[in-house]
Amino acid sequence: MESRSNVSRRNFVGGVAAAGAATALGVVTLKPGGLLSRGVTESEAAAAPTTASQVAAASSSDEYDSLAKLANNENPYGPPESVMKAIQNSMKYSNRYGYPDGGITQAIADHHGVKPENILLGAGSGEILEVVGTTFLLGNKKVVGCDPSYGSVYQQATSIKADSVKIPLLPDYRQDMPAIIEATKDNYRDVGFVYLCNPNNPTGRIVSKTEVKQLLDSIPEDMPVLIDEAYHHFVDDRSYATSVPYILEGRPVIVARTFSKIAALAGIRIGYAIARKDIIQRMTPYSTGTISAIAKHAAVAALKDTESQAHVKKVTIELRNKTTSELQKLGYATIPSDANFFMVHIKKSVQPVIDDFKKKGVLVGRPFPPMLEHLRVSVGTPEEMNRFMVAFKELFPSVKA
Ligand SMILES: Cc1ncc(COP(=O)(O)O)c(C=O)c1O
Repeated sequence: MESRSNVSRRNFVGGVAAAGAATALGVVTLKPGGLLSRGVTESEAAAAPTTASQVAAASSSDEYDSLAKLANNENPYGPPESVMKAIQNSMKYSNRYGYPDGGITQAIADHHGVKPENILLGAGSGEILEVVGTTFLLGNKKVVGCDPSYGSVYQQATSIKADSVKIPLLPDYRQDMPAIIEATKDNYRDVGFVYLCNPNNPTGRIVSKTEVKQLLDSIPEDMPVLIDEAYHHFVDDRSYATSVPYILEGRPVIVARTFSKIAALAGIRIGYAIARKDIIQRMTPYSTGTISAIAKHAAVAALKDTESQAHVKKVTIELRNKTTSELQKLGYATIPSDANFFMVHIKKSVQPVIDDFKKKGVLVGRPFPPMLEHLRVSVGTPEEMNRFMVAFKELFPSVKA
C-alpha cells in the first residue's frame, strides 16, 4: 500500500477526498484497454489521479479488476484458503471492541523467538515507519539512509520538520554502507536513527549480513537503526540475513515487517515492529493501537501457512527471472533484484512511459528520482506479466531485433 504509507495520516484524508471528487466529476475515465481514452481536456488530465495507486483507488471495481497491477509490489494471488477462512470466521467480531485477538502478539513473538513485549503492531508496517520517525526525530533530529529508497520515512521526517541525510546509491545500485556510517558518525548528536531498507525498494538489492554488522559495529552503540524487511520473504541470496538476532543481543535495532507482501494482506493492513522492550515502550504512545479483528486473525493464520508462502516465493522468483531475461534479450538492462519487483533501464524518461503503460491498462511503478530512466515493475501473475511484455514490445522497439 505504497501511496498510503507515503502520505502522512493528515494528508491521506485529503487525498481520498480529492480522489472521490475527481471521480464525481467524471475525470477518471479508466477503461479496459485505455486510460483517459475518451480524449479528456488538458485541465481534466491535470486533475486526474497521477500515481498508479491513485488511479487504482479512483477506478470502479470492474475497471480496477481489468488492470494489470504491477505498481505496488503486492502479492497478486491473494490470501490462501486458510487465511480466507480465518477472515471469514473473524467477521463475527465486526460489531465488537473487546474482541479476542487470536493471540497475534504471542504468535509473532514465537515466530521470531522473542517475547510479546518486543512486538508493536501497526496498521501495516507503514504505520511502524511513521511511529519510528515520530519517536526518534522529534526535536529537529535527522534520519540517515540511502536514496532512492522507500520514501515514507523521509516524508515523515519532513512532516514533523526533521531532516533527512540521504546517501546516493553506489554505481551498482547497492547501498553505500561506508558513506552511511560516515554520515551517521559526522552528525552523531543530530541523528535520531539510521534507516536501512533491506532489500531496498525500489532496486530490490540487498544489504549483506556482513555489511549490516559493519554498520552496527561502526556507529555509536546507542544509535537506533530501523531495518525495513518488508521484502525479506523473497530473498534467496545467502549473504543476506534478517537482523532480528541483533535485537536478542540487546542492540537498538528495530526490525519492521509486514503482512502486505508475501502474505497478501495489503488491503487488510497489518505489520509490526520487533525491538528491545524499552524501545517498544518509547514507540507505543505514537501508535494508533487500532488493528482490526479481521487483520489480527488473518495474520495469525498467515504465520501458520508457510507452504503457500513458499509457493508464492517460488512462482514469483521464476516469473521475475523469466521477465528480466526477456527484457535483457530485447537489449534492456535490469538491476539484479532479490524482491518481488525489479527495475529495468528504459534509456529514456520514465514518466511518459508510465503514462503509456497506463493507457494500455498496465499500472507500473512511479518515478524514483534520481533514477529517472529506470522503470520499477512488480511481479504480477503470469497473465499480468504477459500483458506487461506485450505492452513493452509495443512501446519499445528492440534494439537487438
Ligand atoms: C519497503 C517498504 N516498507 C514498508 C512498506 C509499507 O507497507 P505496508 O504499510 O503495507 O506494510 C512498503 C510498501 O510498499 C515498502 O515497500
